[in-house]
Amino acid sequence: MRFHMKPIPYGRQLLDAADRAAVIRVLRSPWLTQGPDVVAFEDALAAACGAKHAVACSNGTTALHLACVAAGLKPGDEAIVPAITFAATANAALYCGAEPVIVDVLPGTMTMDPAAFKKAITRRTKVVLPVHFAGLPADMAEISRIARAKGLIVIEDAAHALGASYQGKKVGSCDRSDMAILSFHPVKHVATGEGGAVLTNSKALRDTLRLFRSHGITRDPALLEDKTQGGWYYEMQTLGFNYRLTDMQAALGTSQLRKLPRFLKRRRQIAALYTDAFGGDARIKLQAFPADREHAWHLFTIQVPAAKRRAVYDFLHARGILANVHYIPLHRLPFYKRRAGAKKRLPAAEAYYAGALSLPMHAALSDADVRRVIAAVRQGLDAR
Ligand SMILES: Cc1ncc(COP(=O)(O)O)c(C=O)c1O
Repeated sequence: MRFHMKPIPYGRQLLDAADRAAVIRVLRSPWLTQGPDVVAFEDALAAACGAKHAVACSNGTTALHLACVAAGLKPGDEAIVPAITFAATANAALYCGAEPVIVDVLPGTMTMDPAAFKKAITRRTKVVLPVHFAGLPADMAEISRIARAKGLIVIEDAAHALGASYQGKKVGSCDRSDMAILSFHPVKHVATGEGGAVLTNSKALRDTLRLFRSHGITRDPALLEDKTQGGWYYEMQTLGFNYRLTDMQAALGTSQLRKLPRFLKRRRQIAALYTDAFGGDARIKLQAFPADREHAWHLFTIQVPAAKRRAVYDFLHARGILANVHYIPLHRLPFYKRRAGAKKRLPAAEAYYAGALSLPMHAALSDADVRRVIAAVRQGLDAR
């Protein structure tokens, strides 16, 4: 497609000379695969989120898989997930042979409806995966209270929410969960190319996550079953994976993480510009934003009248404004529709999806870019 003006993607990375220098430093070092830079990145992540441990891995999807494995999810179990999320949240449960149970979201925040979660719990439920959609923390107090009462493991899908906070605690601190996962895909706050991490305050979970990240093999003297062997000795103790991050990616991640406060500040400025522009427009619904949490603004989602969504989307794209839709509700994806049944209805998720658009939101946007987006959304809505 050709555009008259510079295309504006809905999300992208923002790299500088320091980021490039960090990667080149690793390229000149003896390590390329998981090494000292991964350890440094893990330490920086744990400190940034206020968690005791971070286990870096190859992407957010493998982080979800590792977390589900560490939670002990297995065939016959169920894991409860919200309908408005990326497919990977539910897929991770299936990788373990467990069944994802898709529940509705709260109209307004579009995060997991705690009442729907409670209603979906059965004898088979082992895990709940609240998603901090668009960067807005889910109702963690209520979700973790229900989960604790039922002995469920809580895994926060915080892929969108690095830098967000909930009731004064940083997302990723695992204040109200067992584990939280992050993604470092280029559209996220911190980019490593592919990349992810699991945060936890449990040393036992950390050790399990590390074990499964690397083939189920350990060399850690404290964890070996046979402690009488020589320095070469390692044990494969379980069937794991190769889900490691490279040192090149980790060096980029550490360099990017230093700029997280700046990236968040810019995202918040952009959100304020959009909110000022659209807050009084009766045709546009904004994501509700409860006062007890800080939004990390991975996405800026709006809802336009369902009858106009397609026209507005096409209007924006014709002008190089590459709006997106996050997300098609999980139960409407052909794969999950077959599993959940075509009759499954989740009214809040479906109503949101019918009018949903994600406007460009990333730290590389200029004020002029944002003004261009605002004007185009208004024109798209005015067009007949
Ligand atoms: C909510 C959510 N969870 C998990 C993931 C998976 O992350 P990755 O793309 O790093 O595998 C994504 C990716 O976009 C996501 O949006």
